[in-house]
Amino acid sequence: MKKRVFSGIQPTGIIHIGNYLGAIKRWVDLIEEYDCIYSIVDYHAITVSYDPKELPIRIIESAKILMAAGVDPDRVILFVQSSVSEHTELEWILNTITPVGDLERMTQYKDKRQQNVENINTGLLTYPVLMASDILLYKAEVIPVGEDQKQHLELTREIVRKFNRRFGNTFPEPQTLLGVAPRIKGLDGNAKMSKSLNNYIALIEEKEDIWNKLRIAVTDPARKRRNDPGNPEVCNIYSLHKYFSSEEEIEKVNKGCRNAEIGCVECKKILAENMDRVIAPIREKKKSFDGKENLVREILYSGAEQARKIAVQTMEEVREKIGVKF
Ligand code: TYM
Repeated sequence: MKKRVFSGIQPTGIIHIGNYLGAIKRWVDLIEEYDCIYSIVDYHAITVSYDPKELPIRIIESAKILMAAGVDPDRVILFVQSSVSEHTELEWILNTITPVGDLERMTQYKDKRQQNVENINTGLLTYPVLMASDILLYKAEVIPVGEDQKQHLELTREIVRKFNRRFGNTFPEPQTLLGVAPRIKGLDGNAKMSKSLNNYIALIEEKEDIWNKLRIAVTDPARKRRNDPGNPEVCNIYSLHKYFSSEEEIEKVNKGCRNAEIGCVECKKILAENMDRVIAPIREKKKSFDGKENLVREILYSGAEQARKIAVQTMEEVREKIGVKF
């Protein structure tokens, strides 16, 4: 029996290179060896303000990009979270064994509280419990994510231990598997790359937009003029080179920056070319799904059907164990 993998992504409608290097690339690499279930988590997305008319479009766009990036629905289960109502059913049960204090301590909750002062809803607080139920519903053991999700997965393990102690051994403790680049910074060179901060390069960015965005991206702030030597260690452009450029090029820009032989513009041009080499095939494949929204919908429905079969079985067992089956 292959071990099971689960992971999720919010339907922002764009997927950026942070998502890709932090998680999605791993999702794809794991397909060969594991039994993989990947979800577009729309119920997580409604905890912050959103447009109900836009959400279905974003869901479909996200699915297209995931498939273009290599999440092959013939080899994995790809589905939308809200299509399988067992996610929220299990969440309720897990809520009853999760201390409020544990949720209040979550860094992401504390950040979101500050960013959404006008809408600090209960969903923001119980967000990690819904994540736990996403994972436990499929008894997943390996969870590929970026670093920002690590704390939530630690809480999931706590919940597993508590459930198993109280109701008998039911769930395995899932392991966090960090991506190749667990925390990609945005083009401001400071905050985490994210859609909401508009500091991202999309996984399907057009070539000229890659350049337009990189052109104004922050480098080593101490390097004011072309002839000043720079410090690659504090330059976000250099850190991106590590994921897109060859060993020789990385070496070349590292040295060239330190002795001022290479300016920031030239360094960025090399990066833009290499980035486009990775992005171009994904961008083209994504375009091949445009106009085929019905096909994409069918794929997601079929994924939900497969996911539901597993979810229903787990819920049967859970209901019996917690004593609500009579
Ligand atoms: P989400 O939609 O914010 O992000 C999807 C994945 O991308 C990773 N990520 C990053 N990695 C590196 N650098 C960045 N700048 C960056 N930004 C995002 C995230 O860590 C994530 O792996 N709550 C989750 C979705 C989720 C989930 C789950 C994940 C719901 N249920 C169960 C695992 C298991 C989220 O909002 O991811």
